[in-house]
Order: sequence, then C-alpha cells, then structure tokens
Amino acid sequence: MAGMTTESAPPQRRSDLPDHEIPTMSVDELRATQLKRLRRTVRTAYEHVPHYREAFTAAGAHPDDLQTLSDLARMPFTTKADLRANYPFGMFAVPREQVVRVHASSGTTGRPTVVGYTKRDIDTWADLMARSIRLAGGHPGDIVHVAYGYGLFTGGLGAHYGVERLGATVVPVSGGMTERQVQLISDFGPRVIMVTPSYFLSLLDEMEREGIDPASTSLQVGIFGAEPWTEAMRQEIERRTGMDAVDIYGLSEVMGPGVAQEAATTKDGLHLWEDHFYPEVIDPVTEEVLPDGEVGELVLTSLSKEAMPVIRYRTRDLTRLLPGTAVPSMRRMEKVTGRTDDMMIIRGVNVFPTQIEEHVLAEPRLSPYFQCVLTQPGRMVELTVLVEPLERLDAGAADEIARTLQHAIKTHVGTTCRVQVREPGSIERSIGKARRIVDERPRP
Ligand code: DLL
Repeated sequence: MAGMTTESAPPQRRSDLPDHEIPTMSVDELRATQLKRLRRTVRTAYEHVPHYREAFTAAGAHPDDLQTLSDLARMPFTTKADLRANYPFGMFAVPREQVVRVHASSGTTGRPTVVGYTKRDIDTWADLMARSIRLAGGHPGDIVHVAYGYGLFTGGLGAHYGVERLGATVVPVSGGMTERQVQLISDFGPRVIMVTPSYFLSLLDEMEREGIDPASTSLQVGIFGAEPWTEAMRQEIERRTGMDAVDIYGLSEVMGPGVAQEAATTKDGLHLWEDHFYPEVIDPVTEEVLPDGEVGELVLTSLSKEAMPVIRYRTRDLTRLLPGTAVPSMRRMEKVTGRTDDMMIIRGVNVFPTQIEEHVLAEPRLSPYFQCVLTQPGRMVELTVLVEPLERLDAGAADEIARTLQHAIKTHVGTTCRVQVREPGSIERSIGKARRIVDERPRP
C-alpha cells in the first residue's frame, strides 16, 4: 500500500547455525549453545511427535524440567523399537511435505527404520560432513572417491554432500564393481577415499591382483567407518598403503555419517560434533549415566534436527567419552568396540569381533578377513573362528596357525574357541559392512 512501509520478516538468524569450518568455540560457549538447542529440541519433539509426548508422560518428565544439561538424564530413552513402532513417518516433527529426503536402515529383521530430513537438516549434515572430511585431512580442491553405498543407506549421499560442501570434487562410485573402482582410482587420482574398512581391503586385494602397489596410488587419506575396526587394522592399512587411515562414525537414526570424526593429526578417537549432538554414556543394564572415561552404551540427543529430532537415542554402540584434543572443546569418543547386539557370550565370557580381529591381524600369514561362527550342538554355545591364509599353506603350517591363534584368544580374550584355517579367498567379502558373526544356533 502506498506510503506504508511493509517490513518483511527478518531473515532467519543463521549465526547460531553450523558452518563447514571446524568450530573454535570455548567449552562455556559450547555448553550454552547445547542447553539452548537442547531445550528447543525437546520442546519441539514433545509438542509435535505424539510418541515423545506419551513417553515423557509415562516417565513423569516434561520439557520444562530441563534447566541444566544434566537434567536430560530425567528424560526417557528412545530405541530402535520406538522408530519401528512409528513406521514409516510417525517420528517426524514436521509435516511430511517439508521432508525433502528419507533414508532407511536395511532392516534385516522386521520393518526398516525410516529417517527424514528437512532442507535445513540436509544443509547441516553437509556442513558436518565437510567439517569431518577437513578434520580427516581432506582439503577443498581434493578429488574424493566415495565408495560408500548410495541409496537408502546414509553413507554414500551423506559423504557426497559433504565433499561438495567442502569444495572438493566428488566421484560418486558407490559400492561394488571392484575392478572398476580400482580403474577409477588409477585414472582420476583421488587424494581421499571414503569407504567401509572391510571393502577397502577388497580394493587393496584387487590392486595387488592387477599388479598395482597400493602404496603407489594417489590416495593419501582414507575415511573409514560404518562398522567397527581396530587399531591393528589401521596399522595394517597404513602399512600397506602409506595413507592416513581415520575413523568416521554415525548412524542413520541420529543423522548418518559425520556425527563424530577422528583427526588425521592425532588419530586418538573421534571428536563428537557436540554443537549438534549431545552425548551421554550409560550402563546398558542399569541405564545410569556414567562419568566421562567409563565404557558403556553411547546415547545421543540431536540438538539441531528439524524433521526428526531424537531424544536420548540408545545407539547400542559401546565406547567412552574422553576430553577433546584436536578440537579442544569437543569431547572424543573412543573407537567403538562393538555393538551390544554383536556381543557374543561364550561360556559367560563377553567377546566382540573386534577382539578377534586384533589377533587375526597379528599373524602375518593370515589375510585380514575372518568370521565368527556361533553354533550350539548341545547346551553350550561354541565359537569357531574362520580365517584364511594369504597363500595356500601345508597342513602343518595351517595347524600351527590355528593352535597359536586359539591360544592367543584364550589368553587375551579369555574364551575357548576353535580356529579353522580355510582356503585363501574363501571367506565372504562384502561391498559394504562386513558380516563378522554368522549365527548358526537353532532358533529358540
Ligand atoms: O553406518 C552411517 C555411516 C556411514 C557411518 C558411513 C560412517 C560412515 P547405519 O547404517 O545406521 O549408519 O549404521 C549405524 O553402524 O550404530 C554402529 O554400530 C556402526 N558404525 C557406524 N560407524 C562406525 C564406526 C551408518 N566408525 C551403526 N565404528 C552404528 C564402529 C560404526 N561402528
């Protein structure tokens, strides 16, 4: 209207949003940001997601109870079962029309779990992935080969948007077609590769089969995650390639890759991007919050997600929180030992595949591939570790390896197992996450 000054809505303040740089805020600033974002997240979840309102009511909790960060311990947990029960879109806090993308877990048992992102969530994710790649030693201008699977799995697209946000060149190869992957690495000269550690081993084998020395390629940085892998595996990969091998962590329910990232400069565990995710570690049995430094189950609360906020999500991943190093204000999580669901209980002893991995890698005649087969011929659960030599061995040498490995596992892990040395190349390869446990026990 003439003469009237129409004031448009002020632009959304973005100063409290992330950028793709590694944050330099102080711990005090971080805690203030966390509390502000936590209160907003909890209130939104409570007001817009019926599941949260019911869970809060059942727990006798209310968003107003959140005066300090430690008050979060009074709020209810969220589990994968809650996501399944609200399949497909029941956990969304925004109208479905505002969800620009969904991802889903593979759902090997039952329904998959579905997660959604607004435009801004995708933007935040790209920022956090760009930060992660930077901390891993990637730079704008690099060529980055992405061999995480594209599709419903968050690995491929999550990495992809991060590389673009960083200002690097993304090669979106996805998983599979191993020969072609090796050809593209040779032809395009990527400096960085993003892939599961187990599939990277297959790429190395293919290079060697073709007579390419893995240490001679252009690759300098490997950003490996989506499954547990050990320090021994890092050493094996770095020895064979001369690269920096660093760990990246994430899960679809909480965002996807880029929740935490290890720095190439320190390689001492993964910095959690605490301005977007609030971590707690709990005793998985008593559900008590444990002090930093103690091992337990990681529980994450999103602090900026719009489409699908998650409150106290029980990741099932076992780790502990440590003080920041490369990023001083952000705590680290130690490399994940395993998932509570991947814990094998053999005659009362808790065993994770990562503990077996260390001992397999200690034997230079064995390849890094292995599987743990669980059987129950009588009342007792039995563990058989399948391994394979790099080259065919005579029976005497295979026996000796089996005995030595069995002894090392008994001594250091504390469990009796059988070791079977199979033919070279016979253990299952994966193009994504490796299947370390083969459960052949009769179904109850
Ligand atoms: O695996 C997201 C991802 C993609 C992370 C690419 C890193 C790289 P989900 O398929 O939902 O999401 O599986 C999440 O994988 O709870 C852990 O058990 C495991 N996991 C992920 N990263 C690591 C890691 C992706 N660095 C589940 N170390 C998580 C150990 C990991 N386990």
